[in-house]
Amino acid sequence: MSIRTPDVLRGRMVAELRARGAIVSDEVEAAFLAVPRHLFAPEVTAEEVYSAPEGIFTKFNDRGKPVSSVSAPWLHARMLEAARIAPGMTVLEIGSGGANAALLAELVGWHGSVTSVDIDPDITSRARELLDRAGYGRVRVRQADGAQPLPDAPARGFDRIIVTVGAADVAAAWRDQLAPGGRLVVPLRLRGLSRTLAFAHEDGHLRSDTVIRSGFVSIQGPSARAVRSVRLAGRHVRLVVDEDQEADANALTEAFTEPSREQWTSVELGGQEGVLPRLEVWLAGAIAPYGRLRATPEAAGRELVGWVLDAGMPAVWTHDSLAYLSLRQVPRATSERYELGVIAHGPGREALASRFAETVRRFDREARDSEPVVRAYGPEDPHFPGGVSVDKPSVRLTVA
Ligand SMILES: C[S@@+](CC[C@H](N)C(=O)[O-])C[C@H]1O[C@@H](n2cnc3c(N)ncnc32)[C@H](O)[C@@H]1O
Repeated sequence: MSIRTPDVLRGRMVAELRARGAIVSDEVEAAFLAVPRHLFAPEVTAEEVYSAPEGIFTKFNDRGKPVSSVSAPWLHARMLEAARIAPGMTVLEIGSGGANAALLAELVGWHGSVTSVDIDPDITSRARELLDRAGYGRVRVRQADGAQPLPDAPARGFDRIIVTVGAADVAAAWRDQLAPGGRLVVPLRLRGLSRTLAFAHEDGHLRSDTVIRSGFVSIQGPSARAVRSVRLAGRHVRLVVDEDQEADANALTEAFTEPSREQWTSVELGGQEGVLPRLEVWLAGAIAPYGRLRATPEAAGRELVGWVLDAGMPAVWTHDSLAYLSLRQVPRATSERYELGVIAHGPGREALASRFAETVRRFDREARDSEPVVRAYGPEDPHFPGGVSVDKPSVRLTVA
C-alpha cells in the first residue's frame, strides 16, 4: 500500500496538529482521525488537503474575492477545542463547507444533532452532497441568513453555536438561541482586528474565555458591515476604522504631512511571546477612538512611516492628529527583542503620543501576561459597566 493514502496523510496532519497544540483533547483528535477531510475539497488532491497550512478557497465572487472556503485544519481544531463539545449536544454551525460539520457530527455522536446554515445556495447544495458522500447524512443543512433566528431551532436553544464566517457584530439571534450554559464561538471584527472568541454566559452577558487570532471570509447579507479606510498618503498609508467610528479624512491626511513626534515606551517584546496580539485586543477597551494604521512596504522604504507590521499597527486619533504604534529592535539584546514606541503627527502630537505611550505602559504593568477578556452586553443591559466600549449594532463590547 502506498504511504500516501488519505488515511496516512490524515494521521500525519493530526500528529502535527497535536504537536503544535492545536489539538489538545482525545475527543477532537478522534474526530479528526475519523473525518475524511479530502472528500470536502474534491477540487484539490488529498496531499494538498492534508498539507494545506491555511484554508482552501472554494468560491469567489465576481470581483475575485473569496466568499467561501474549507477553513484551515489548525483553525477547525482550535475552534472545536474552544467550543468544548460533548456527546449528545445540539450544535448550530453558521457557514457551511462540510468538513467542520462532519467534525461536529463526530463530536456530538449519534445522540446529538448538527445543523449547518449557509446564506449561499451553491454552498448548501455542495455541502449537502459532500456530507452525504462522506457518510454524514445525519447533518442537517439549511440555506438561510445565519445572523437571523433559525425558525426550527430547539425550544431551549443550541448547546453550542459555532460561527465560521467573519462577523462584524454578535447577532441578537446567537445570544437568543444559545441554551443556558451554552457556548458561542465567533470570529469577530474588532477595530480592524480579526479574532475568534469563545463566549459563555455570565451574569446576563457573555464573557470570553478564549481568543484565537484568525482570518475569515466576511459575513454576507444585511448584517455585513464594510470597514472604512482613510488614505493618509495615497494608497501607501491608510487608517482603517470600523464603520461607526468618526475620522475626519481631510484633517488626518493633513496631519500626516506634518512632522512627527516619537516617544519610546521602554516596553519590550520578544519575537514569539504573543504580547503584541494581546495588547492589540486590550487597547480596544482602553483607548478610543482606536483603529489600525496599515502601510505598504514602499511606504517604509520612502520613510513615510516607522516600522509597521504587514497586518498593520494600533492607531489612535483626534479631530486633527493621529498616532500609531511602531517597533524598534533593542540594541545589544541577546535574543530578538523589540521596543514599542509611538509615532504621532498633527498639531496635537505631543499630547496624543504621551497619552498613547502611557496606555501601553499601563498594559505592560497590568495586563501583558493574561489573555484579554471580552464581554458582550445587550444594548439595553442595565449592568453595562460603562467606560470605553466597542459598540456594535446588537451588542456593546468591553475589553479588559
Ligand atoms: C469560511 S466558510 C465556512 C467554512 C466551513 N464551516 C468549513 O467547514 O470549513 C464561510 C461561509 O459562510 C457563509 N456565509 C456568509 N454570510 C453568511 C450568513 N449571513 N449566514 C450564513 N452563512 C453565511 C459563506 O457563504 C461561506 O460559505
